This record gives sequence, C-alpha cells and structure tokens, in this order.
Amino acid sequence: MKTSQSKRSKFLILAVSIFLLSCTHSNGDINESKGYQFSDNTALSDKFKSNLNNVFNSLSSNVAANGFYKSTFGKNSDKVYGLAQCRADISPANCTNCINESINVALQNISNSNSVEVWFTWCFLRYSNESFFGVWEKGSMGVTTDTGFDDAAVVPKGVAFMSGIASMAPNKPRMVEMSVLDVGQSGKRYGMAQCRRDLSRSDCGKCLDDQLMSFTYSVEDKRGWEIYGMSCSMWYHDFQFYSNISITASAGGGKLCHGITAVSMTILSFILTFLLAFRDL
Ligand SMILES: *[C@@H]1O[C@H](CO)[C@@H](O)[C@H](O)[C@H]1NC(C)=O
Ligand SMILES: *[C@@H]1O[C@H](CO)[C@@H](O)[C@H](O)[C@H]1NC(C)=O
Ligand SMILES: *[C@@H]1O[C@H](CO)[C@@H](O)[C@H](O)[C@H]1NC(C)=O
Ligand SMILES: *[C@@H]1O[C@H](CO)[C@@H](O)[C@H](O)[C@H]1NC(C)=O
Ligand SMILES: *[C@@H]1O[C@H](CO)[C@@H](O)[C@H](O)[C@H]1NC(C)=O
Ligand SMILES: *[C@@H]1O[C@H](CO)[C@@H](O)[C@H](O)[C@H]1NC(C)=O
Repeated sequence: MKTSQSKRSKFLILAVSIFLLSCTHSNGDINESKGYQFSDNTALSDKFKSNLNNVFNSLSSNVAANGFYKSTFGKNSDKVYGLAQCRADISPANCTNCINESINVALQNISNSNSVEVWFTWCFLRYSNESFFGVWEKGSMGVTTDTGFDDAAVVPKGVAFMSGIASMAPNKPRMVEMSVLDVGQSGKRYGMAQCRRDLSRSDCGKCLDDQLMSFTYSVEDKRGWEIYGMSCSMWYHDFQFYSNISITASAGGGKLCHGITAVSMTILSFILTFLLAFRDL
C-alpha cells in the first residue's frame, strides 16, 4: 500500500458558499460545492494535462451509467488516476451534471496540483498522479449547523440509528444504506452512509466507524449534520434529504428547512490525511 500520497501536505479550501445553505430549493438538499482539497503546487507537464483532460472526459461520459467510474490515462510520471462517484439516490442526469461541476471547480479553482479532491453534496471527484484505487484514506470533514440542537432524548437514538446505518452499509450491494428513524413527537430523522465503491467491504466498515468515532461527539446534539470523506460519507437530517419516494416523510413539506434554514455552517474539524500517514491501516 502506498502511503506517500498521504505524506504530502494538503491544502484544504472550503468554498464560501458552503457556509450558507439556503432553502430556496424545495428539498433542502442541492448540488452545492462542499469544498476541495489539493496537494502542493507542482508544474504539470503537457502530457499530464492532456491525460487529465481525457480522464475528465471519460468520467463525465461514464459516471451516470451506475454512479461510479474509475479511469486512468498515460504512463509513468504522466499517468493520471481519476474517480467519480455520485450519492446513490442521485439521478443519472444530476450525477453527470454534478461531476461536470466538480470538474469545473478542479479546472477553474485549482491549477498546478497533481492530486485533487472535490466534494459536492451529490458527488465526489478525485484525481491523482498516484494510484489510490481501493485504498482507504481517512481525511474527512464534518459539517453541521451552529444552531439546530436536537431534543436531548433524541440524541442517543440518533447516534444509535447512525451507527446502525454505518454497520449495514458495507454489506449492501453498493455499500450504501439509507433509513428513517421515527422519534415520535420530535418527528423523523433520516440517515445515509455511503462508501466509495472501489473499497473493500471491510475497509468501508472501518471508514464509517472511524468517521463516527471522530465526529460523533461534535455533531450528535444537532438535528442535521454531514461528514464528507476521502473514502466514505454520511448524512443525517430531520427532513428527507435523499430522493427516494418509497420512504415517506410524514413530517411533511412544512418542515423541510427546519433546523438548517439560512444558518451559518460550522466546519467542525478536519482530519488531514498527512496526520495519519504513519498509522497502520
Ligand atoms: C471557483 O472560482 C470561482 C471564480 O473565481 C468562484 O466563483 C467559485 O465560487 C469557486 N468555486 C469554489 C467551489 O470555490
Ligand atoms: C447544479 O448546480 C449547477 C451550478 O451551480 C446548476 O447550474 C444546476 O442547475 C444545478 N442542478 C440542479 C439539478 O440543481
Ligand atoms: C506524484 O507527484 C509527487 C509530487 O507532487 C511526487 O513526489 C511523486 O513521486 C509522484 N508520483 C508518481 C508515481 O509519479
Ligand atoms: C435533479 O434534481 C432536481 C432537484 O432535486 C430534481 O428536481 C430533478 O428532478 C432531478 N433531475 C432528475 C433528472 O432526476
Ligand atoms: C458534461 O460535460 C460534457 C463535456 O464537457 C458535456 O458534453 C455534457 O453535455 C455535460 N453534461 C451535463 C449534464 O452538464
Ligand atoms: C428506495 O430505497 C429502498 C431501500 O433502501 C430501495 O430498495 C428502493 O429501490 C429505493 N427506491 C428508489 C426509487 O430509489
């Protein structure tokens, strides 16, 4: 397993747009940029750039077919490894659109980096000059509101609910699980956990457990939070953020923006991969 990728220092830049979540979209869950991360500046060769362009085209044309695609172009030091994955509930059209947006961020906002990750609510894009396929990496960021505290009685139920989802996801065909928790008068809570599909099931489980261990303390008292990672991600809200009409939200449309309306988002913490470079996976 290669660890040099993790040893390089990383810069993490978060789009200002993520600090504000507007509720102009009726489902409260839009294809917003959540941030991006890239390695130190490097002069990219023309060959690398042209391979990267091929990788982007290939990801953009192929990701919609099943929401996940890997692509490599080039040889030796000009070789580019790329990967695109959409959240499991996202339609093919929205998936392609989201990956296209991510590619635009990579092209417009980041230049001269040979290792980049871009997160949107609906999709994840990564490319690197080194192979990362099948490798669990720990970098994650937690996003929640700085208000929107949940009822004390609901908190432990929410924690148990999400850890149940985290334990189910690795055994699902696409390593994704979504579910709904009825908390009586306090309404419902909706959760989803998803791993990158090139990981092994066992690394998927470790990735989700690790995220819960790292972030539960800082997010558990909130009605809504999200964790975006290099290898897996989780979402928890008091409205049905995912598009799956087979799970109905009795909470109804009126509550869609509850707890998350136009509040500033707090980025809780970042676990940068290089901090963990020497930990044995
Ligand atoms: C990328 O840059 C453009 C223009 O500089 C800016 O409008 C946009 O918000 C940036 N995107 C992200 C995700 O930071
Ligand atoms: C996704 O975001 C892009 C750019 O912000 C926008 O043009 C597009 O319409 C959005 N798509 C959906 C389905 O919301
Ligand atoms: C990838 O790029 C980094 C510098 O950004 C370099 O140290 C590393 O050796 C490169 N890896 C490969 C496989 O070329
Ligand atoms: C894309 O997402 C938007 C916003 O959630 C939704 O209204 C639209 O139906 C989706 N498009 C497709 C093709 O599913
Ligand atoms: C995505 O980008 C490709 C290549 O630039 C383009 O052909 C395609 O129409 C775009 N699709 C969407 C949904 O934006
Ligand atoms: C909704 O979710 C259920 C269970 O997770 C799944 O079996 C079903 O296929 C999904 N339906 C749609 C339309 O995505």
